[in-house]
This record gives sequence, C-alpha cells and structure tokens, in this order.
Amino acid sequence: MSNLQSASAIPSATLREDYSPPDWLVPEIALDFSLDPARTLVRARMTVVRHEAHDEPLRLDGEGLKLLEVRRNGEKLDDGDWMLDDERLTIPLTGSEATVETLVEILPEKNSQLMGLYASGGILCTQCEAEGFRRITFFPDRPDVLTRYSVRMEADRKRFPVLLSNGDCVESGDGENGAHWARWEDPWPKPCYLFALVAGDLSANRDTFVTRSGKEVALAIWVREADLPKTSHAMQALKDSMAWDEHVYGREYDLSQFNIVAVSDFNFGAMENKSLNIFNSRYILADAETATDADFEAIAGVVAHEYFHNWSGNRVTCRDWFQLSLKEGFTVFRDQQFSADQGSAAVARIGDVRMLRAAQFPEDAGPLAHPVRPESYIEISNFYTATVYNKGAELIRMMHAMLGPHDFRKGADLYFERHDGTAATCEDFVTAMEDASGTDLGQFRLWYSQSGTPKVTAKLDYEAEDASAVLTLSQTVPATPGQPEKKPMAIPLKTALLGERSGRPIVAEHLVMLTDNEQEIVFEGLREPPVLSINRDFTAPVAMDSEKDPATLAFLSAHDDDPFARYEAMQQLMVETIIDAVSGRPVDHDPVIEAVRQTLTDPDLDKAFIAEAVLLPSESFVGDQMLIVEPEAIHRAREALRDDLGETLAEDWRAAYAASSGNAYTYNPAATGLRRLRAVALGYVAASGLDEAPQLATDQFESADNMTDRQAALAVLANSEWPERTGALEQFYDRYRNDALVLDKWFMAQALSTREDTLASVEALSRHPDFSIDNPNRLRSLVGAFGSNQRAFHAASGHGYRFLADFILKADAINPQTAARLLPPLGKWRRFDEERGAMMRAELERILAGPNLSKDVFEQASKSLG
Ligand code: ARG
Ligand code: ZN
Repeated sequence: MSNLQSASAIPSATLREDYSPPDWLVPEIALDFSLDPARTLVRARMTVVRHEAHDEPLRLDGEGLKLLEVRRNGEKLDDGDWMLDDERLTIPLTGSEATVETLVEILPEKNSQLMGLYASGGILCTQCEAEGFRRITFFPDRPDVLTRYSVRMEADRKRFPVLLSNGDCVESGDGENGAHWARWEDPWPKPCYLFALVAGDLSANRDTFVTRSGKEVALAIWVREADLPKTSHAMQALKDSMAWDEHVYGREYDLSQFNIVAVSDFNFGAMENKSLNIFNSRYILADAETATDADFEAIAGVVAHEYFHNWSGNRVTCRDWFQLSLKEGFTVFRDQQFSADQGSAAVARIGDVRMLRAAQFPEDAGPLAHPVRPESYIEISNFYTATVYNKGAELIRMMHAMLGPHDFRKGADLYFERHDGTAATCEDFVTAMEDASGTDLGQFRLWYSQSGTPKVTAKLDYEAEDASAVLTLSQTVPATPGQPEKKPMAIPLKTALLGERSGRPIVAEHLVMLTDNEQEIVFEGLREPPVLSINRDFTAPVAMDSEKDPATLAFLSAHDDDPFARYEAMQQLMVETIIDAVSGRPVDHDPVIEAVRQTLTDPDLDKAFIAEAVLLPSESFVGDQMLIVEPEAIHRAREALRDDLGETLAEDWRAAYAASSGNAYTYNPAATGLRRLRAVALGYVAASGLDEAPQLATDQFESADNMTDRQAALAVLANSEWPERTGALEQFYDRYRNDALVLDKWFMAQALSTREDTLASVEALSRHPDFSIDNPNRLRSLVGAFGSNQRAFHAASGHGYRFLADFILKADAINPQTAARLLPPLGKWRRFDEERGAMMRAELERILAGPNLSKDVFEQASKSLG
C-alpha cells in the first residue's frame, strides 16, 4: 500500500517511441470568453471527428479547470455521463462525428505559473506552448491536432479597451454593464499551443508592410501608452524580418494583420502565436537611454525569430514535442542568418558560439544531457534547452555547409511544399534536404539521437622533403546519461592550410568530412611549411584539440584569414595560459600580451571584432575545460592575466579608449563596434591600475548619452574596490528605479560582480524592496545571474548553494518552469572538489525532499543527482 502510494507519487515519463496518432481530431472550435481577472468563464464548442477505426472515448486534457457543464450534440450531460480526474475529461462518443461543448471557470489573477490565461500588470494574456492550453479549456492538447478557431471575448470596456486574438477581427459590439465584445477568426488550422488572446489597456505603434505579391499587412506593436516611444526599433526589425524571409527563403506572410503585444511577466523570451506574438517586454522596448546595443540586437533577433516561426513552426508544425527542434533549431538558424546579414557576420558567429559554449556545452557534458531530439521527458517545459535550440541550429547549419546554400534552399523549399499545413518530424526535414540535394545524410542523422559534444583531435605532420603533410583526425563522443556507447558521427570541418612564412593560404578552404573514428588526409605540393586552420567558422559543434603550441596559436591569431578561426586561436591561447597558472605550471603571459597587442593595434580590423578577440574567456568557460574546477584559482589566474594585459598595454588601451570615444550616439554597426571596443578598453584600463581609471569610469558613467556606455561603466565600477562604486550604484538606482527593465540591470551588475563580497551583497539584494520572486525577469536578473557567477556561487562556505536552493524551493511554489531553469548550476557537482560536490548534492537532495514539488523541479533535481 505505502509502496504503491510512493510509486504513484513519482511523475511518469513520456517516451518518444510511444507516439501514436490522435484518436479524435478537432477540425473546428468556437471559444467564448467572459473575461475577468478574478473569474473568467470559457465556453468551448468543438466539432470532433473520429480518426481511423477505434472505439476509444474522447479524452480531453485539462488542468486546474473548474468544470461547470458538458454537452454532447447539444444535450446537457449528467455527471455520470463523463469521467473527470486531475488531468483529463473522458466522454464516451458513438458515431464518427459529434459536437462537444464544455463550460469552465478559471482564475487568471491567481495564475502565478504564467501558463494558460494570466494577468500581467493589468493585461490579460495567454501562454500556451507547450501545454498551457489545457489550463484554459478541455482539449486534446497535443501539436498534431490542427483546428480552425473562432474566438469571441467579452470584457469591461474601460479596463480592457483592446481585445485581440489570432487572425482577424470579424465582428465587435457593446455588451451589458459597460462591457464590449469582439469576435476573431483565424482561417489557418493550428495546434492549440499557437492559440492566443490578449485584453488590456494598450496602445499601438502601427505600420504597414507590402508583401512581394502586393498584399498589404497591417502591423501593430501593442504596449502601455507610456512605452510607445520605445517600440520603433522592434517595428523596424519586424519589417526587416518580413522582407528578409521573402528574399532569402521565398516565404511570404499569409494574413492581413500581424500583432505583437509586450507584457512584463513572461516565462521565456517570446511566443510565436499565429499573427499574435506575445513578448517579454525586454525583447520589445528599447531606446538609447534605457537599452544597450546588446539589447537592441537581442530585440531584432527575437522579433525575427518569432516572425520566422510563421513558416518554420506554424505553417509546418511539430508532430509531437520530441520534434521540438524541428521548429526551434531551424528557426534559431534562420534568426542567426538574419542577424549575420544585419552587421558583421564574423562578430555574429562569434556571438553564436559564445552562447553555445556558455549554455549548451555544459548541458551536454552534465547530468541533464539529452539528444537534440530527446527520447523521453517528465515535463516538456524542461526541454526548451540550449541543446534543442542552439545545438539544433548547429545541425541545420552543418547541413547548410554540406549541401551549400543553393541545395539547402532547394531542400527548405521542398520541406515547406511537402509538409505545409501538417505536423512534421525532424526526420521529414532531413529527408527533404536529402531528396532535394541527392546527399546521403544517413550517418549525419546521429546528430539528432546521440547526445554529448564530440571531441575531435587534429594533428598535422609536415614532410619537408616531399613538400607534403598528413592531417590525422580522430573523434570520440563522450558517454552521456543513458548512452554509454557512441557511434562515430559525420563531422563537417571547413579546413585550410596557411603558409608559415607568408601567413597566406596555401591550401584553400574546403570541406573535410570526418566520418570514421580516425582518418588521414594527405596534402601535396606545399610551397612552404603549413599551419592548420580547421573548423573554420565553427562548422561543427565539437570540442577541437589541435595540439598547437603558443607560438602557432599566436601566429593564427594574427594571420588566419577566417575571422572565427582567428578569434578561436586567441581564445585557446588565453585558456591555456590561464590553465597553466591554475595547474601550477610555469606561466608566460607574453604570447597572450603580444597577440592582444597585435590585434588591438591592427588598423584593418573591424572594431567590434577586435573587442571580441581581446576579451578573456569567462571563468566558467575556463572551468569547463578542467577535469576538476578550481573556482578561486581560476579567478586569481584570470585576474592576474587581465592585470598584466592592462598594465603592459596601458598606453594601447588608453589610445583605443580615446579613439572610440567622443561620438554622439547613433545606432549602426560601426557605432556599436566602437562602443563595444570602448567598453572592453575601459575594463582593461581599470585592470591596469592607472590612477586615472576610477575617474575615467566615473566620467563615462555620469556623462554617457546612452545605456551601453553607462552600463559598461557601471559594470566596471561594480567589480571595483573603488570608493566611487557605492555612489554610482546609488545614482543608477535613483535614476531608473521606476523602469523595471533597467532596474534588472542594476540587480544583475551586482550579481555578476567579481568582488569577494558578492555572495553577501546578493543575499542582501534578495531582501531589497524592489526584488520580486514573482517576476521572472527580476528573479533571473538576481538569482539566475548569481548562479552563473562561478566565483561567488562556488564560495567555499557553500552558502551560495544554499541560497540558490532556497530560491528554487520558494519559486517552485509560485512558478515551476522558472524555478526549474535556475537549477542547472547545482547539477555540476561532479566537476568540483569533494567538499563542494558534497554540499551541492546535499542541496539537490534538500530540494527533492521539498513539499509539493512540481514535475519541473523534480525532473531536473532527480536527474542532476542521478
Ligand atoms: N516557442 C517559443 C520560442 O521559441 C518559446 C516558448 C517556450 N515556452 C515554454 N513554456 N516552454 O520562441
Ligand atoms: Zn522559437
């Protein structure tokens, strides 16, 4: 008995291999909302059609719904005519078709999970992906049920003057007692996760876009009236995205309006609901005073991402949630291509890889590793991961590299043509690429099923006598949870050889396919000794070990004609120098200093590129390269290298700082490149110990005419021991205390500080009146950022672990999705010394023992211990 109980308390897993098509289809639904934040009534009338022969009843998912009425073919049913449990409503049906109607009550104001229909700052809005629609009404909540929606909503006109849903508004009018109503129809059948509704006191920034076939689309970005001036950048990004998708993929928009709504409480970045995208306000609102260049770039990227989903996600959706990367990997790849086309492609690529290495490589190396197409999940929300999104995008990029742009486009066209209006699989995408190009992607498919970051070694042996060289490549894929044995992968590597004397390419770039465990490639007719340049542009998401000495890395950092490879050589040189110091080997900073000096003073290089190239790798990234991470030693070694770079090149940093200063604010690639370099130079000036450093930072902080410069100075001050620090933080707070998105930056600057007292200051900030555990942005800006601060989080006392675990438990009772996303730093316990590892484990165990734990946190904590 007790056994049975505890067994049933463990949430069960859903398996990919268990997929079976739906028993009942729902071609049409009419929804009727009587909206009120305190108590909303939802009437749903759907036509259901038996799908193939079976005698299963109709099963509808539902969660947290108060069921008031059920009707079958118009007739009201008694309680005994249907069955209801925690998760579903079962209704027996005869015949091949029926009309089923339910009436439920929901409580938007009490919805702190931010899934389903909820209230944010007086606005009612929805989030349905992945399984939120079942929190609005009873429905087969799975992406392979495609339905035409007609949505009527009624609400108080004063509080909710704007009523929006998918498609077009076809009717509207006045109701009783100051109410009004509107009816929206979406002609495109869609899965329920793309349903959306918004009601609120909103103002629109309106514009139009004319598609290439001449159809006019009405565009609107809806925000609180005071925020209207901050929407022009997002609007421009939307129009650019619409034009780009026509131009690059031949994809045109398919409705007469496109709406975006910004809300301040949102679990993720944004959501691609059909023609009614709902955004976290941080990915819409921007102006020079309150948003950094990085914010502007992220806004354009997310606006593009959600817009591109209209084809890669909405017109072709996913058969089941194991196929999530079908839409997310492809759409991230598309938004990365779009961003690369807006400015420097090289800097964009460096950004993609930085992100992959910061979030995905650690995931792939830890207890939560899973394939791009997972095999099982307990809670699907836990699989909106860097692996599914960013590694998924790398898979698409590899196909792009193998097929070439022309055949890749043919493959994309074929994919859209074959699967338009359906729910498809990752396999369908690869097959379309294969069929359109005639390329065999058989072995390549392993990238979808094998988890873990492949490790590739590359060794080049030069034979001077016969002017030839042998490149020996080998690969291993590490064991990951559930996958002890791995097969060799098909790894595309863009490769070139540079002349050691001339510094110029002597074997032009070409694609090498590594498909065996070990492979040899011979190069002949070499005019001079060669230097290997491999995995150029980061063709494949692998960890590359090319056994290069510091001199060769320094050479490549100055001469490689592939900008990514150039950046990479410098990073590797820096990482190795820091690791030497941590491991107690003799340390020589000079190769790094010399390489940085050369890059910094190279007049031909793009400023944004220089800024990226001279930046030291993060403490976490250095830690990820070590078997056992030593956070304090890494911090000291990295700081020592920074200080040395600052001091030795003090004149160069001062010069770079001066050369990138004195421009009035504009937003374009050249101006953002200068600001980026200015920020990096300021950081090194601060490290130089120059007497003028505090004044320079304070002046920049006070006189900045934009947030990029102000925040950069604040970060330097927040990391410093200078007396000016406190005043700057106070000033920043006073100036922006009423702007939530900027106040997030204030919390984050302190949570990311490299100072010794960061843990204590973060604990104090968590009691600050402006801290809130309910708002995901605020929670992430303090607690999430702290979890990524390697030194502070891994403080030897273990108090960092306790602090995070306390917050995970508290947040879980409010918002499980967001709580679960804070957990991964604790899962790294195997990578730390015994004392730290034991304390981290103990916190995971304490979390698991928590009362009423959500499926979300249960899955992440139990797998992290496993
Ligand atoms: N599909 C959205 C996007 O990538 C993300 C939605 C994530 N939501 C969730 N509850 N898991 O743009
Ligand atoms: Zn997406």
